[in-house]
Amino acid sequence: MLRLRISATAVFLLTATLAVAVPSQGAGTTAIDTLYQAQGGSAGALGAVRDKERCGLRAGGCFRAYEHGSVYWSPQTGAQPVQDPLAATWHRLSAQDGALGYPVRAMGCSHGTCSQDFERGSLAWTADTGTVASQDTDDPASIFVLVNKQHALAPADYRPEDLVSVDGSSLRAEAAEAFGAMQAAAAKEGVGLKMVSAFRSFDTQSSLYRGYVEQHGSEQADTFSARPGFSEHQTGLALDIADAGGTCTLQACFESTAAGTWAASNASDYGFIIRYPAGSEAVTGYSYEPWHLRYVGVSAASALRTDGIATWEEFLSLPPAPGY
Ligand code: DAL
Ligand code: ZN
Repeated sequence: MLRLRISATAVFLLTATLAVAVPSQGAGTTAIDTLYQAQGGSAGALGAVRDKERCGLRAGGCFRAYEHGSVYWSPQTGAQPVQDPLAATWHRLSAQDGALGYPVRAMGCSHGTCSQDFERGSLAWTADTGTVASQDTDDPASIFVLVNKQHALAPADYRPEDLVSVDGSSLRAEAAEAFGAMQAAAAKEGVGLKMVSAFRSFDTQSSLYRGYVEQHGSEQADTFSARPGFSEHQTGLALDIADAGGTCTLQACFESTAAGTWAASNASDYGFIIRYPAGSEAVTGYSYEPWHLRYVGVSAASALRTDGIATWEEFLSLPPAPGY
């Protein structure tokens, strides 16, 4: 009886030691392999395994290469295959680090068209057109739109359809709800965070910019004010915040106010990024604006923060926009 008990303990210890000693597999291993097997394994569309699983991709992602494509996995998007004829274009657009991001479902083909959805857009292939990308970063109505000196709003006079009133200004409904939650959370911690400007129409931005040019000249104005048709404020997804105490409003020292430090630490939890960070002038084209928040959704805002990516341009692997 004693012998048995000792050996059972020994077996347990041995098993526990082995479990620790075996190198841990990548986070996506099971999901990637399950998908591969479901597609028929080496006899299926992906063909034979070419390499072991590789991890450490953006947002904790992993992938595995096969003969005829790859399977990409991330905690947000699960395991999805990327294969011909779409794979080459997706890779050229910087794959998961690009404007499209990770695949969110498998490619589907019918009537001569193969298409696939990604986090921020889609790819479609026909024999006539080849592969064509449709990126949400080009769509003014998408929370992922990119607006900078090289990427004008199209149409230039775009106006969002779902603006709602907030604190004397307006934001798109989704951004307004996120701002309300953020403001309430700050207030709970004794931080007064107020909005000083949000949606601005093409015409409002025109007169604002014209005023700055008259006052400072166009070279100086372009460092802090967007020309009409090039302002994020026109998307209804951007807002300028201030400390309720009234100090340092729209000045770099806002970063040291209670609202400024709180927003720098917490805004990403509500889907906002500080769009014009210090030191990124050559990428964004604007001087430091610690008060200008841009809504991109919680998932993207958190990914920028977790991966230490400073700007929306860099997150999308799209070119910097230092000037017009
Ligand atoms: N201040 C920012 C760059 C704007 O005018 O949209
Ligand atoms: Zn602003």
